[in-house]
Amino acid sequence: MKGQFPVEKFQNIRTPFYYYDTTLLRRTLSAIAEEAAKHEGYCVHYAVKANANQQLLSIIRKAGLGADCVSGGEIEAAIKAGFKPEGIVYAGVGKSDWEINLGLDADIFCFNVESLAELDVINMLAAEKGKTARVAFRINPNVGAHTHANITTGLAENKFGIAMRDMVAVIRKAQEMSNVEFVGLHFHIGSQILDMTDFKALCLRVNELQEELERENIVVKNINVGGGLGINYQNPDGVPVPDFKAFFDTYAANLHLRKGQKLHFELGRAVVGQCGSLITRTLYIKQGEVKKFAIVDAGMTDLIRPALYQAYHKIENITSDEAMETYDVVGPICESSDVFAKQTELNSTKRGDLIAVRSAGAYGEIMASQYNCRQLPKGYTTEDMNNI
Ligand SMILES: Cc1ncc(COP(=O)(O)O)c(C=O)c1O
Repeated sequence: MKGQFPVEKFQNIRTPFYYYDTTLLRRTLSAIAEEAAKHEGYCVHYAVKANANQQLLSIIRKAGLGADCVSGGEIEAAIKAGFKPEGIVYAGVGKSDWEINLGLDADIFCFNVESLAELDVINMLAAEKGKTARVAFRINPNVGAHTHANITTGLAENKFGIAMRDMVAVIRKAQEMSNVEFVGLHFHIGSQILDMTDFKALCLRVNELQEELERENIVVKNINVGGGLGINYQNPDGVPVPDFKAFFDTYAANLHLRKGQKLHFELGRAVVGQCGSLITRTLYIKQGEVKKFAIVDAGMTDLIRPALYQAYHKIENITSDEAMETYDVVGPICESSDVFAKQTELNSTKRGDLIAVRSAGAYGEIMASQYNCRQLPKGYTTEDMNNI
């Protein structure tokens, strides 16, 4: 065992694969439960999009979180893992009819509706079943987040949500419909946010919108502020558990909840990000004209974040204690963007060494593809190691 990794066991597993430290996941979930419980009416959902591994879902469900889904497949995955429909919320700009029907049949807690056209379809499909769908409107708050442009979602130019100026009209429309019930507002400003002032800006916007709705005598039972809390990619061992206290306290200090109102959160990355690592084996060391390359057997098909968002992941050689050297760590895919890190320091690395790409529990395994006819990586948990 080197560091927190059971390296001996890893030698028996075909690489690349994901390893999930479920002890850390449980610690993270306890921190969420402890901090959220300090505030009345706070309900935390897990954003299944971050990682839908069934073993992780089951642990998260047992910790008492609800599920936030963005597709019919995610609703199925959540239900399979035992999440109760009354704790499931369903967002997404493009819900297909079969997905809406699935949500209606399961009687999920709420559809987070992103357009008037979608509201019409939900009302129609619910009528066909003689049901009433609970709906919340996803409002685009035009609040920026200090994060990568590809993962901001709350700006006026983004495809998500309904414009603020249309908010009252869509609620009125829903109130006139026979098969939908308006139950709340939904927001989500982006992901990997570490600056609490971004969440504060959302709170202030929600306060303004609530005041506008009060003037219209519209009662809002639920406010859902989405997810977005980031993790420390630079220092996963130093900061394994995100600062949930600062996160929930920011909402408590700035968002003015009305009596009896519930405040919902949809955390993804902050729940599972730090517990996962992509484990890959070094295939070759290649000395180029100016650089030394560590060519590993995992590629952008297994973890696309560096290629897609220029994301940083800490990389460690977990089978070498030798002196540090500088490498470009690259994968085998036929794309020049298939690079995990440029000019990074690793213990001197040779063929066969195991490399851990850290903080890969969120938006890793779930985004894997079979491009180049590759196999999908498997995911193993701490518990699985007992049987290997
Ligand atoms: C609507 C919605 N909720 C929650 C999340 C989860 O975000 P995060 O993983 O940053 O917490 C996302 C992510 O894109 C989202 O689109």
